[in-house]
Parts: sequence; C-alpha cells; structure tokens
Amino acid sequence: TRVLFVTSEVYPVIKTGGLADVSASLPEALCRQCHDVHILLPGYPAAMKAARASGSRRQARLVIGQYSVALWRTRLPGTSVTLWLVDCPGLFDRPGNPYQNEEGEDWWDNAHRYQLFCRVAAMMATGQAGLRWTPDIVHCNDWQSGLVPVFLEPAPNRPPVVFTIHNLAYQGLFSHDTFRALGLPDSLWRFDRLEFHGQLSFIKGGLVYADRITTVSPGYAAEIQTPGFGYGLEGLLQYRSEHLSGILNGIDTKLWNPATDQYLDCHYDADTLASKQECKAALQKQLGLVPGDAPLLGSIGRLVEQKGIDWLLDALPPLLQQGCQFAILGSGEIRYTEPLRALAKTHPGQLSLTIGYDEPLAHRITAGSDLFLMPSRFEPCGLNQMYSLRYGTVPVVHRVGGLGDTVLDPDQVGHSQANGFSFYEPTGGAFRTSVERALECRQQRKRWRQLQSNGMAGEYSWKERAREYGKLYQTLLEERCLTR
Ligand code: ADP
Ligand code: GLC
Repeated sequence: TRVLFVTSEVYPVIKTGGLADVSASLPEALCRQCHDVHILLPGYPAAMKAARASGSRRQARLVIGQYSVALWRTRLPGTSVTLWLVDCPGLFDRPGNPYQNEEGEDWWDNAHRYQLFCRVAAMMATGQAGLRWTPDIVHCNDWQSGLVPVFLEPAPNRPPVVFTIHNLAYQGLFSHDTFRALGLPDSLWRFDRLEFHGQLSFIKGGLVYADRITTVSPGYAAEIQTPGFGYGLEGLLQYRSEHLSGILNGIDTKLWNPATDQYLDCHYDADTLASKQECKAALQKQLGLVPGDAPLLGSIGRLVEQKGIDWLLDALPPLLQQGCQFAILGSGEIRYTEPLRALAKTHPGQLSLTIGYDEPLAHRITAGSDLFLMPSRFEPCGLNQMYSLRYGTVPVVHRVGGLGDTVLDPDQVGHSQANGFSFYEPTGGAFRTSVERALECRQQRKRWRQLQSNGMAGEYSWKERAREYGKLYQTLLEERCLTR
C-alpha cells in the first residue's frame, strides 16, 4: 500500500514530543512490512538544511494563493523512508520550534502555515502536485493535518483518510476572523463541521471528515468518549465510535535497547541486570548526586499540566525527607521550573534538575534510575514508561490512557505478572502512596527482580502494532472497492 504520512514533526529532524518518535518509527516499521510510506513534513530550517546537505533536489513547484511552494524529496536520515518537504520560506523558515517563536509564543500565523501544509498534502493525494507518486491512503496526525480530509472531501477518486489523535488537548483553535482570512467556505462554519464554540477547530476537520479515526492506545480511545477526557468533543467521538479505535504505539527497540544504547558507557540485559548498577553509579556521578544505594527516581518530559508535575511537586518534599534521590529532565512552564529549581538548590546531591532538551541524558536517566515517575493527568500513550520498562527501571504511573494499558500493578495482576505501580485517584497523595509501595517492594529483592524482568520481557516493538495499521489500510481499500 502506498501511504502518505502527514506529520508536523519527525525524529531526528525535528521533535517536540512523542509525535516525532512515532512519525519516524511507525513509517519505518510499515516500510519493513512492504508498505510504501512517504512522510510529508513542513520545510523547517533544520529539515531543509539536512535535505540540502544530503544532495536532495527540488521535485516540483506549486503556486498556492499568494505562496510559491517547492516540494523537495529526500530520505529520513538513517532510514530508507522517503521524506517530502514543503519548502515555503515565508511560512516555515523560522527559528524556534515548529509551533512557537523563541519566546515560547505561538506563531501568529499558525493557521495559515498549517492550512498551506494541508493543501499541499491534499494536492499530493489527488495527483495535482505534478509528482509521479500518488498514495492509496492518506494518514494524518494531530490538528496540524486536520484540514487534509476537509480539502479531500469534494475530490472524486480521493484516497481514504486515516486520522490519528496523538493528543486531543491540542486542537488548533482559531478565531472566526482567521477562518475568514483563510478563505474557507462559509458552509464549513457549522457545529457539525469545523466550528467549535465560536472558533475554528482544525482537529474537528480530522474528527468529522476522516474515514477512520485512531488514537494511540485503547485506553485513551475509550477515555476521549467521556466528558473527563473529551474536551467537549466526546459527543462527536461517540457519534463516530464505530470508526474510532485505539492502536498502542510501539517504540524504536534499536534506539532504546539497554544492551546496545549508544549513549551508555555500560550495557546490560535481563541476564546481566547487575550491570544496571554501573549505569546508576555513572549517572549519580554525572549529575553530582551522592553515590550509593539510595533509591534513584527518574523523570523526563515536558513540564506542563498534562504531565502531573504539580502532583510530583506535592510528593517531592516527603520523599526527599525519606532519602530518595531524583534525576529530573524537562522543559516547560515557569510555574513548574521555578519550584523545581528551588528544591534542587536546597537539596544538592539529592535532587538533580536539568532544564532543557537532552537526548543522551534522557537515555542515561532511563538506564540509571531505579524508578521512573509518570504521574500524568492524562496520557494518550506515553513512550517513556515503555522505554523504562525495557531498561528494567520500574515505572510508577497514573492509570490513564496508554499508561494503564502498559503498566500493570501487583494489585491488579499479582506480583508474578506485574511490571510497575499505578494509582487511580487523581491526587498528589495517591501518587505518593504508589511511590511508597514501590519503595517498599524494592526492599524485597526477589519481588523487585521479578518486576524488572517482567518489564524487560514485554513486547514494545512496532512489529504487531504496525500490522494493525496495515490491516486498517486494507479494510479501507476494500470498502472503497465495494462502493465503486
Ligand atoms: P509527549 O509526546 O506527550 O511529550 P511521550 O512520552 O509520548 O510524551 O514522548 C516524549 C518523548 O520526548 C520521549 O521520547 C522523551 O524521551 C522525549 N523527551 C521529552 N522531554 C525531553 C527532554 N527534556 N530531553 C530529552 N528528551 C525528552
Ligand atoms: C502525544 C501524547 C503522548 C503520545 C505521543 C505519541 O504527544 O501526549 O502520550 O505517546 O503523542 O503518540
């Protein structure tokens, strides 16, 4: 199957979160299963630079409204996956991250930027981009690609569209003025189309018009149909429930493998778990933590409300009091970075805080910690808990979304099956209790070893999970044949 995979970020070219990891590892896995997947990405500076350096060339030129756009064909570094770049310097050649300027404010013209991106995707999908390659299926991801199925809707012979929700909290909401400035037809301004409480919603384009909606775990697929997790879109998602499913994300098991990890000085696997101690010692040394056997608790991620940082902040003082050590890596909002900084200052040698984005350190924390903390308020899938399971680092998580689908608590399944700890009640107190249960269990060597081995023995690769996408594409193509 030829698939156009439309995404606003892809590792290692440009990444703000898990979407980038998935946008690289899923297409790669699908290509291994003989699908012909091409990724479409905006031509951000980092992407254009990599393309030019690899000797890639422009393949087509398009004029869309006032913009002149070039399409570049290159490869996703380190893979054989084709990567198309939408080169439009006026919209994409900017410093900062894909969505925000260096001050952390959203680009004022994000609606224009991603509308253009969606138009190019729709042109490629219908053979209007002047390329020899056209897809059988279009696979869109998150709000930035939400207008693709809207633009494809009127096209005869359009390919079926899959829309994957990686995070329903980000919806691409803009004013009615912006809707008009984009030149979208008035007929789309309806509550059952793109209008959402007086605003333009990009994500509704995907939710209303895609042939199939998927999200990144079965747990989240159920949750988003309820008021607690649906952000007011639960009704629409219930209405579409026959066409909505959850497929758990996989991880790149080559990149995240404690036996071969390029960022570690010492390696281990399930049979040589003792060497994990060396990773811990190395991490303590690197971060200036007091060497020794104190439990080391790791945390990596965006410091935003989603990740339950306030619950972590509640739990930190008592756990520090008990002698726990912390290795925290992340970047995000000041309301979280400030109190964390203060704690790091008052607890030198015990709490290490790294503000910023640091890939090698993320690997070292994953390997060197005893416990990995993920008290997310909601978590569509979550990748870090799967990384830590694979590294024998026992996760403590909030039992929501993909966390609930991947982390099994002894209270749920018994010690022989468990691989971590989870709490249900959404409070800092419940989180702390589950960390304490984990610390207690760590005192019982055999039980702890069992948890670690269970985690390390789990299957987290894309192999089977990518097959589910393959099956979904197949179903859509068969349905298409039947209706013709
Ligand atoms: P989300 O996409 O909601 O941010 P995920 O768990 O799906 O959460 O994915 C986050 C990804 O980003 C993981 O690969 C994680 O290791 C990485 N990551 C997040 N913050 C940092 C950071 N400060 N430094 C290095 N890697 C990070
Ligand atoms: C989103 C979610 C995260 C998920 C990732 C990849 O950023 O917050 O839970 O793992 O997308 O699908």
